Amino acid sequence: MAVGSAGAVAVCGATGRQGGAVVRHLLTGGWQVRALTRSPDGALARTLADAGAEVVGAEMGDAESLRRAFDGAQGVYSVQNPYTSGFDQEVVQGKNVASAAYTAGVRHLVYASAGVGRPTGVGSWDTKLAVGGMERAMVNERVQRLEAWLAAYGNDDREAMAGSLAEDAVWHVGGTHRLSGDYRGRDAILGYFDSVRTETGDTMRLEPLEMLANEQHGAAFLRVTAERQGRNLDVVVADAFLLDGDGRILEFWAHANDQQAVDAFWD
Ligand SMILES: NC(=O)c1ccc[n+]([C@@H]2O[C@H](COP(=O)([O-])OP(=O)(O)OC[C@H]3O[C@@H](n4cnc5c(N)ncnc54)[C@H](OP(=O)(O)O)[C@@H]3O)[C@@H](O)[C@H]2O)c1
Repeated sequence: MAVGSAGAVAVCGATGRQGGAVVRHLLTGGWQVRALTRSPDGALARTLADAGAEVVGAEMGDAESLRRAFDGAQGVYSVQNPYTSGFDQEVVQGKNVASAAYTAGVRHLVYASAGVGRPTGVGSWDTKLAVGGMERAMVNERVQRLEAWLAAYGNDDREAMAGSLAEDAVWHVGGTHRLSGDYRGRDAILGYFDSVRTETGDTMRLEPLEMLANEQHGAAFLRVTAERQGRNLDVVVADAFLLDGDGRILEFWAHANDQQAVDAFWD
C-alpha cells in the first residue's frame, strides 16, 4: 500500500509503548495517523498531536467509540494491555477493536499478538489466541459466503444461488464466445448458468484452489473443467467478487489462464 493513499491509520494504545512506537514510525514514514487514547487532553496526547497525529478519544471497552474513531480509516493497529485491564477485559477490548474495524470497513488490521500460536496456560498468550481466533472468523465469514455460492452452483440449488446474489448483481463473462457478455440482475445470471448447464450436459465442475475475502471483496482461484461436443475444458480461473454489506455478490469478473481455450471450448 502506498503512503498517502486515502485514509488514516488508527492506532490503539497510542500513548503506550507499542502504540507509541507505531505512531512515531508511521509519522516518520509520512502516514496520516489517528492516535487513540482515553485521555485526548492529556500531556501524552498533546505530544502525539504536536508530532502530527490526529488525537481521538476512544475507550476500547466501548465498541461504539471505536467505530467512530475508525470511521474512514484504512488501517487499524490493535494492542491491549492485560496487566492494566485484566485478561477478560483484554479479550473484550481486542474483540471490540476487531469488530469495530470490520464494521467500519477498515481494510487492514494489524493485531499485536504474542505467544506460540497454541494454548499454553500463559494468561497473556491465551488471551491473544481468543482475540486472533475471532479476527480470523470474521474474515472467514465472507469466505464462507463464497464457498456457499460454489456449493449452491455444484448442487444446482437455484434458491441458494439466488440468495448468494444481490438482486441487481452484474456478472461479467469475458472472452469472445457465445456466452460472453454482461448479465445484469439475478434472473439473467441464473439464466446464464442454466445455459452453461445445458450446453455442457451439466459437466462443468468448479474446484476451489484458494479463496480470499474481506468486507467488500472476494477472490477465488478455481480449476474449471467441463465437456462439450467432444471438447474438454481444463483451465484455472481467477474470479473477483464485489460484495454487498450482507456478503452477497454484487459484481463478478473472471480471468482465465488460457482465454483462447475457453473461447474455443464454447464456439
Ligand atoms: N512486556 C513484554 O515483555 C511484552 C512482550 C510481548 C507482548 N507484550 C504485550 O504488549 C501489550 C502491552 O502493550 P504496551 O506495552 O504498549 O502497553 P502500554 O504501554 O500499557 O500501552 C497501552 C495503552 O493502551 C491504552 N489503553 C489502556 N486501556 C485502554 C482502554 N480501556 N481503552 C482505550 N485505550 C486503553 C492506554 O492509553 P491511554 O491511557 O492514553 O488511554 C495505554 O497507553 C500486552 O498485550 C502484552 O501482553 C508485552
